[in-house]
Amino acid sequence: MARVIFKSVPDMSKARNRLEKPKTIRDDVFVPENVKKFAEGRSYFVHTYGCQGNVRDEEVMGGYFEKAGFTKAASEEEADLVIINTCAVRENAEEKIYGEIGKFKKKHQADKNFTLGVCGCMMQEENAAKKIMESYPYVNLIFGTHNIPNILNLLSEHLDKKKDLVDVVSFAGNITENLPSTRLDKYKAFVNITYGCDKFCTYCIVPYTRGRERSRAKEDVLAECKQLVEEGYQEITLLGQNVNSYGKDFHDGTSFATILEEVAKLGIPRLRFMTSHPWDFSDEMLDVIAKYPNIMKCIHLPVQSGSTSMLRRMGRRYTRESYLDLVNRIRTKIPGCALTTDIIVGFPNETDEEFEDTLSLCEDVKYDAAFTFIYSPRKGTPAAAMEDNVSEQKKHERFDRLLKVVEAGVVFHSSLMVGKTYDVLVDGPSKKDPEVLSGYTESNKLINFRGPASLKGTIVKVKVTEDHAFSMIGELA
Ligand code: 5AD
Ligand code: SF4
Repeated sequence: MARVIFKSVPDMSKARNRLEKPKTIRDDVFVPENVKKFAEGRSYFVHTYGCQGNVRDEEVMGGYFEKAGFTKAASEEEADLVIINTCAVRENAEEKIYGEIGKFKKKHQADKNFTLGVCGCMMQEENAAKKIMESYPYVNLIFGTHNIPNILNLLSEHLDKKKDLVDVVSFAGNITENLPSTRLDKYKAFVNITYGCDKFCTYCIVPYTRGRERSRAKEDVLAECKQLVEEGYQEITLLGQNVNSYGKDFHDGTSFATILEEVAKLGIPRLRFMTSHPWDFSDEMLDVIAKYPNIMKCIHLPVQSGSTSMLRRMGRRYTRESYLDLVNRIRTKIPGCALTTDIIVGFPNETDEEFEDTLSLCEDVKYDAAFTFIYSPRKGTPAAAMEDNVSEQKKHERFDRLLKVVEAGVVFHSSLMVGKTYDVLVDGPSKKDPEVLSGYTESNKLINFRGPASLKGTIVKVKVTEDHAFSMIGELA
């Protein structure tokens, strides 16, 4: 008799043609009796890889598990139920996940009630679930990004049938409200405003793993943010693969600028948002960011490449010139605004000239921070089918050259900070030294400084005394 029941498996090929209208589901959380019983005296742990969207999913899964009666374990070693929340954006993220799953073999042998689940973007890829179920017989549950609201029913079926289950639906996606949630931080919160992505950049797997772009109702976003303000949160980050698209699916004039302004008016001390696509970044958005002091003057604006021909192959919908024009508009309307970016090196057939264009764009823009990646082919995306004439060695050489240029930009901004005083939201004692506090400035620079732990969660003035490029040393002002 088969060990695994495959309830549903993903199909990436239809992603572009999925046009079902998203439904908003507002059901109360239902805890099946057998899950309640199983949860008694047991603990859970979610190990998350990847982006802030996955972190938010971890918080929601934690919410479901705690409603069922599980407590949160201090570490995955101690937990009775472990969920590995995966990322699929690059291959190296996936390799780490196989290693992580392998760690649980002994634990499974020692405790027959130990339950291991694997979920998230990687599970939305065709064949990932099959491969894991075949190679790791101690994985009990596999589910996808759309299955999270059904997580307790899935666990119930697993307990009831004593079978391992795979349930990965792939569809345009719904919106579930009234989600339970255990937030990981008491002062900084992520709030989803859109789910999914419709951009289909040719290298990117996200539109296949997270479904079509869909916006949460304005009232729902505002209610969540209002509650966070009332609970004393100091910072909200509005999340979406492309926040600029917020509200376009309502066809009633609602835009990202509208929601950003309404959230800013709720009085949260710090408001951030990510990610913005350079293609549809409106002047209206810039006006709102400039107008409200609590909207942080720090914009993550992934450029991916500085070459127009490369951007066309990547399906990015803007040119080098229009990107630079946007940077100019940002810096004119919001003087001092920090800019951060993502860059991919080694996209198929990248020419020397195209790469030089990326370098020169970075030299011109001087980003406050940049996340640089070597292109990783993702099966099922258009770029993965392109032939590539660039050697791995050349890609690595280019990557190293890019890092140097990016670092020069970071150092340029950091060095200007010495001697100046900044507002810092205190995260708490730093990782290296409990006597030292760490926190972030408006432009997302990390500052370490001496001060009492009681300052955690407050915004204090810190004077920068030393510049260490990627972090600063300062003193309470
Ligand atoms: N290879 C390398 N980097 C990628 N990214 C997305 N897809 C890939 C890929 N296939 C990068 C982009 C994106 C960031 C989140 O990850 O730069 O902005
Ligand atoms: Fe991926 Fe492009 Fe969508 Fe960003 S905008 S998630 S890079 S497809």
